[in-house]
Amino acid sequence: MPKPIYIINGPNLNLLGQREPEVYGSQTLADIQTLCDARAKALGFDIVFMQSNIEGELVDALQAAGAGGAAVVINPAAYTHTSVALYDAIKAIDIPVIEVHLSQPHSREPFRVTSYVSAAAKATISGMGAQSYILGLEAAAHALKKS
Ligand code: DQA
Repeated sequence: MPKPIYIINGPNLNLLGQREPEVYGSQTLADIQTLCDARAKALGFDIVFMQSNIEGELVDALQAAGAGGAAVVINPAAYTHTSVALYDAIKAIDIPVIEVHLSQPHSREPFRVTSYVSAAAKATISGMGAQSYILGLEAAAHALKKS
């Protein structure tokens, strides 16, 4: 087995299923983890799946991925729009990082248009609900094949 793909989830994503379902859908984060696990296995990868509401723990997870992971799929949630720390953490690691969002931030409030993470990530996939994660995993596997 190659190194795992880290799937990193930011603040409030632990509430998926009950949080604004008209925006984020009815699937829970556990449902998304199950979907990701199956797709990753089919692509030949294990996953490390984590969520935190704490910015520094997301930085720690990116550093752990840089040390022992093959790639990262990250939904930084609200920290997308604010976090220089996540930008720096992504810049500091030498593996493909794919940014994903359930919703399409560009079609929502103006403050969601800014993404510090997009400025450092290899690719961004948004607006496809839970499928954004699956497409993110496929993008990560594709990037690894090419590297
Ligand atoms: C989100 C979009 C962000 O703007 C928001 O703060 C989130 C979720 C998404 O997956 O659509 O918490 O990252």
